[in-house]
Amino acid sequence: MTNLPRDPRHDPVLRDEVLAALAIAPGERHVDATFGAGGYTRAMLAAGADVIACDRDPDAIAGGQALVEEAGGKLTLIHGRFSQIDRLLAERGIDAVDGITFDIGVSSMQLDQGERGFSFQKDGPLDMRMAQEGESAADWLNSADEHVIADVLFHYGDERQSRRVARAIVAARPLTRTGELATVIRKALRHPPGAPKDPSTKSFQAIRIHINSELDELMAGLNAAERLLRPGGRLAVVSFHSTEDRIVKNFLRERSGGDAAGSRHRPAPTPLARAATFETPARKVRPGKAEEARNPRARSATLRSAIRTAAPAHSIKEAMSC
Ligand SMILES: C[S@@+](CC[C@H](N)C(=O)[O-])C[C@H]1O[C@@H](n2cnc3c(N)ncnc32)[C@H](O)[C@@H]1O
Repeated sequence: MTNLPRDPRHDPVLRDEVLAALAIAPGERHVDATFGAGGYTRAMLAAGADVIACDRDPDAIAGGQALVEEAGGKLTLIHGRFSQIDRLLAERGIDAVDGITFDIGVSSMQLDQGERGFSFQKDGPLDMRMAQEGESAADWLNSADEHVIADVLFHYGDERQSRRVARAIVAARPLTRTGELATVIRKALRHPPGAPKDPSTKSFQAIRIHINSELDELMAGLNAAERLLRPGGRLAVVSFHSTEDRIVKNFLRERSGGDAAGSRHRPAPTPLARAATFETPARKVRPGKAEEARNPRARSATLRSAIRTAAPAHSIKEAMSC
C-alpha cells in the first residue's frame, strides 16, 4: 500500500504530525473517524495500516468509493456518527483497534459547495447539516427563541455581540439563504464593506456546531475511542476551535490522572478513584509557519494525542455522567 498517491486536491492539516503520533506498524488496524476527503486515510494506508473510516456525510462516503477500490481490501468505509463508532465496529465483529484519529469539524468539500449551506462566502440554502438529515439551520433559526440563539452564538462562536446579532436575526425572519444571514450579521455588527475579517465567521461556526451537536459528538466519540483502543493503542485528535480543544484536553487530563504533582497555587489532586486509561498525553502540536502559509485553515488547528493503558474503560453509563 506504500505506493498510494497523495491526493493533490486535499492537503490534510497536520498530516505528518498525526502520522507521527499514530506510529503505525504495517498490518495494524486503524480507525479514521472523520473520513472527509480521505487525506488521513490515504496516509494511514500508505503507512501499511488496515483502515476503517467513518463519516456522517453520505457525500463523503460516496466520494470515497474509488479509494476503497484502490486500496484492494485494506479500507472499509462506514456511514455513521463517530459517537457510535464502537457499536458500528462491533456490528462488523471488531472490538479493538490499534489507533483512532479524529479531525473535528467541517471539511473543505463541505465548505466549498454553496448548496450545503456551510459557507458565508457562497450563497446557498441555509442548511449546514453534515448528515443531510434532521433540523436544518433555517428550521432552527426561524423558530428558536432569541436568547437561545444568542447563547449558541456566544458559547460556540465566541461572539461577544451575540445578543445584538440574535436580535437582528429574529427581526429578519424568515431567513432561507446563507447570503441573507451573512448580510444580516454584517449589518448588525456594522461591518464596513471590504474590511479584512468577515464578522459572520463566528456566527456561522456557532450555528454549524449547534445544528450538528458537534460538542456532544466529540465527547461521546472520545469515550467510544477509550472503549475501542487496545492497550498501547494511540488516540490522535485535531480540533479547530478553543471549546473543542478544551474538551479534548480535559478528557485526556482526567483519563490520564491529571497533573499528579499539583502546583504552588493548587493542592495536589486527590488520587484517582480508578486506574488511568491513558498515559500522560503528548504535548499539544500546532502547525508550523510553512503549513500555516500554505493552508490558512491550519492556523487554528491543534493536535492532541495519547496512548491507551491496559486499564478498563469507563462504562457507557459512567461516561455519560462525566
Ligand atoms: C475536517 S473533515 C476531515 C478531513 C479528513 N481528515 C481528510 O483528510 O480529508 C471532518 C469530516 O468529519 C465528518 N464528521 C464531523 N462530525 C462527525 C461525526 N460526529 N461523525 C462522523 N463524521 C463526522 C464531516 O462530515 C467531515 O467530512
